[in-house]
Amino acid sequence: MCGIVGVLGNHEAAPILVEALKRLEYRGYDSAGIATVNNARLDRRRAVGKLVNLSDLLVHEPLAGKAGIGHTRWATHGVPNVGNAHPHRAGGVAVVHNGIVENFRELRAYLAEAGIGFETDTDTETVALLAQHFCDQGHSPVDAAAKTIAMLAGAYALCFLFDGHDDLLIAARKGSPLAIGYGDGEMFVGSDAIALAPMTDKISYLEEGDWAVITRTSVEIRDSHGTIANREIRTINIDTAQVDKSGYKHFMAKEIAEQPTVLQGALAHYINADATGVALPAPGLDFTKIERMTLVACGTAFYACMVAKYWFEQIARIPVEVDVASEFRYREPPVTPGTVALFVSQSGETADTLAALRYMQGKASKIVSVVNVPESSIARESDLALPILAGTEIGVASTKAFTCQLTTLAILALNAAHARGQMDDATLAKHLADLRSLPGILNLALGIEDKVSSIAAELSEARDILFLGRGAMYPLAHEGALKLKEISYIHAEAYASGELKHGPIALVDPHVPVIVMAPRDALFDKTVSNMQEVMARGGKVLLITDQKGATEASEGVWNTIIMPEIDPLLAPILYAVPAQLLAYHTAVAKGTDVDQPRNLAKSVTVE
Ligand code: AGP
Repeated sequence: MCGIVGVLGNHEAAPILVEALKRLEYRGYDSAGIATVNNARLDRRRAVGKLVNLSDLLVHEPLAGKAGIGHTRWATHGVPNVGNAHPHRAGGVAVVHNGIVENFRELRAYLAEAGIGFETDTDTETVALLAQHFCDQGHSPVDAAAKTIAMLAGAYALCFLFDGHDDLLIAARKGSPLAIGYGDGEMFVGSDAIALAPMTDKISYLEEGDWAVITRTSVEIRDSHGTIANREIRTINIDTAQVDKSGYKHFMAKEIAEQPTVLQGALAHYINADATGVALPAPGLDFTKIERMTLVACGTAFYACMVAKYWFEQIARIPVEVDVASEFRYREPPVTPGTVALFVSQSGETADTLAALRYMQGKASKIVSVVNVPESSIARESDLALPILAGTEIGVASTKAFTCQLTTLAILALNAAHARGQMDDATLAKHLADLRSLPGILNLALGIEDKVSSIAAELSEARDILFLGRGAMYPLAHEGALKLKEISYIHAEAYASGELKHGPIALVDPHVPVIVMAPRDALFDKTVSNMQEVMARGGKVLLITDQKGATEASEGVWNTIIMPEIDPLLAPILYAVPAQLLAYHTAVAKGTDVDQPRNLAKSVTVE
């Protein structure tokens, strides 16, 4: 996902812009650039690849000026090259953009009619050309920007800079998040609070359709109707420790290791002190009135929903439908009365998930979200937003957010079971006590890292890898496959163990490792049978189980990873650890970019 920053400062803007862009690197990008206004003159520098290339360029071709904008680009339209890198410029207008201008072809036709040509393949260049076109017609920069913004369709976070104006930024937001940072005689714009943390902790978030005229001493925000809008200025506590590696080689390694700690935060937030009950934030949820639930998300968050389906159905007896947001939003399912829609999203900005949420507005009896960013769009558009309190997650591959999502969903399912009379006080207290012991068990599980690292060296040679799981471990098989493929680039697929014999077993041969995630639970014997079917055909099985499971079934397997014992209900949370560590160490063995894997963005705010 692209990142944008803007500065109206009292110091040279270039280093501030580059530093802010560094804090947006985690979103994933393939080129970067900045533009400044110095002595009323607009200029820009852009470079392909990592930010260090832009920094190098700025050493040789410095850019002065105390007003500027910057951008990290995750290519949507046009290959990653300097020409397509932002800021895009047309005459005296420079603009940076996160999102997709969906009607850019019509706008190009409009500009071509006016005899205006194009230099790049991007949708964003059209924005700069339109603004310059309106300036050429005699409109002021503010009016030119307003007229341009009014013509755009799609998703955008924009920041405009104008030649001759070193105390003016125009910012606009529709579909992609954008924050304004309030300094002391300075103003800032950024895609999120992390980017602005070194400059200020006073942040206001633009709402859908907002645009703002910003000077060093003023911010005038107008909503989508052109009415002056006041957006709350919040003090955002971005613990800067959360956005550095604290000695780990990668953010992902740090975030895997800090799971026991952050889980404690989520548990303490929702489970009362004597572990006998759950406290949901107002307005809460009356589970006795819920007829069914629809859980919608993308990627790892979707696999958390798949696990939650087992929990809500098995212990709370609530029928649950799960779907990936990109399908759900266009499937347009009928919604029966008493349906609660629940959306899971680490970033709270995933475009497909937000669109799915908006589909359910006015249809579901309540919109609930489980998010890691309380001020995010998904949280703000929910009736009830449940924070997972994982802290800032920088690694593109989601780890601590996943286990915190699962923990929050488990607590919700237990709350539902008890509220609906499906679980007595003692059983609820037992499960809540088990949850409270989870951080310690996860800490124990992290002790498998050396074993995993040695296995990963061999895994990294594989071309294809299969993951198997049954019951609530089936979604964990999917999560393991996703983690592995998204950071090591090795093809990996997940199957329900029982599904293997219906075709996928044809893939089994000695060169295709089969990773079986199977605590010694009620389904274990069935899974062992599937394992035998694999080994009978020369398959190489890595069994991830507990001591009981290893004792019973590790004969003949290629390797075994032994996990601490845990109540089967909570096993999916614990077994995320081996999935994450296998992916991490395999990627390290392959030398891929673990924190910013190719082609990926941390939060996909475009369709
Ligand atoms: C997970 O490792 C991936 N980075 C990706 O699948 C992610 O989970 C998905 O894009 C959803 O993001 P969200 O939780 O911010 O909505």
